[in-house]
Amino acid sequence: MKGSPPAAAGAAPFPGAAPAEIEKAGRLALEEATSVAALEEATRLLLGRRSQLSLLHQELGKLPADERKGAGRLLNETRSRLEQIVAARRSELEEAERAERLFADRLELTEVTPQPLSGHLHLVTQVRERLEDVFVGMGYEIAEGPEVETDWYNFQALNIPLDHPARDSSDTFFVRVPGGADAYLLRTHTSPVQIHLLERGRLPIYAVAPGQVYRRDTPDATHLPVFHQIEGLVVDRGVSFGDLAGTIETFVHAIFGTGVSTRLRPGYFPFTEPSAEFEITCQICGGGGCRTCSGTGWIELGGCGMVNPPVFEATGVDPEEWSGFAFGFGIDRLAIMRHGIADLRAFVENDVRFLRQF
Ligand code: PHE
Repeated sequence: MKGSPPAAAGAAPFPGAAPAEIEKAGRLALEEATSVAALEEATRLLLGRRSQLSLLHQELGKLPADERKGAGRLLNETRSRLEQIVAARRSELEEAERAERLFADRLELTEVTPQPLSGHLHLVTQVRERLEDVFVGMGYEIAEGPEVETDWYNFQALNIPLDHPARDSSDTFFVRVPGGADAYLLRTHTSPVQIHLLERGRLPIYAVAPGQVYRRDTPDATHLPVFHQIEGLVVDRGVSFGDLAGTIETFVHAIFGTGVSTRLRPGYFPFTEPSAEFEITCQICGGGGCRTCSGTGWIELGGCGMVNPPVFEATGVDPEEWSGFAFGFGIDRLAIMRHGIADLRAFVENDVRFLRQF
């Protein structure tokens, strides 16, 4: 053909976009399709009736007969290569979509539903409730008394006369009540509840009285100015010191387990006679002796004894007919022994990292 440039070998005999360019752009479009739906759309644009490739097919008829055959083959080969890519890409995307569906529909059996943050009872309250349960199980009633007391209940009725050193004013918080007839004070122990129970006049008595008590002490590892005691009072006919010892052993075993031994040592309290201090095997060293128990292997938990007749007389109970025992000990101390806590102050510092452990 004169006047027209000779067709270069392998060059497309088409005007505009040549099949090679269409193929190159097509591969890219197919690869970029990230869903079956997107792939179908790309395929429609690339191979559909109105695609460039189809238009070129329609143009074939306009080509000179000797070029038509080669051009037709080129178009067909291009189309079939693109169709192969479509098929491969389709199965790839279908597989991915199936996996995604399976994942979304799965039953997640290991999932943990986050629990709303909730609080719990303070360790001292837990130990107090445990003690109450133990004594209720032994047939005791739970009694309560006021935290603001008169001198009579906290001292005098308990056979602690005005000049007694046990009432040293440095230990007691006094409360000034305008117009109050008596000197009011914050109870320094739970023993005044003994007096309330005896005055009530309902005998026999099997009662424990847990509650808060106050002393003017500087806080340290083993002292708090506000702490907790539990008082026990049993009044019946023919109550013996053996009953007292057995009762103490029973509840210590219920709280600490039977591996813990108890012992009574002579002591002195004005409201009990004879009096004793009761001790348990030190829970820090297991009885071998350590700093906490000053090397003795024993830790003092509280005081106890037989109700002293002057206490019966002060409350109108006949000591000829009735006898009884009483005991009292610190709940906080018992809690640190039970849980191996080094410092009582941790109970009132409100550090949730500490409190959460119990
Ligand atoms: N009230 C005494 C104290 O606080 C303990 C005690 C109670 C002792 C009952 C004997 C009888 O130390």
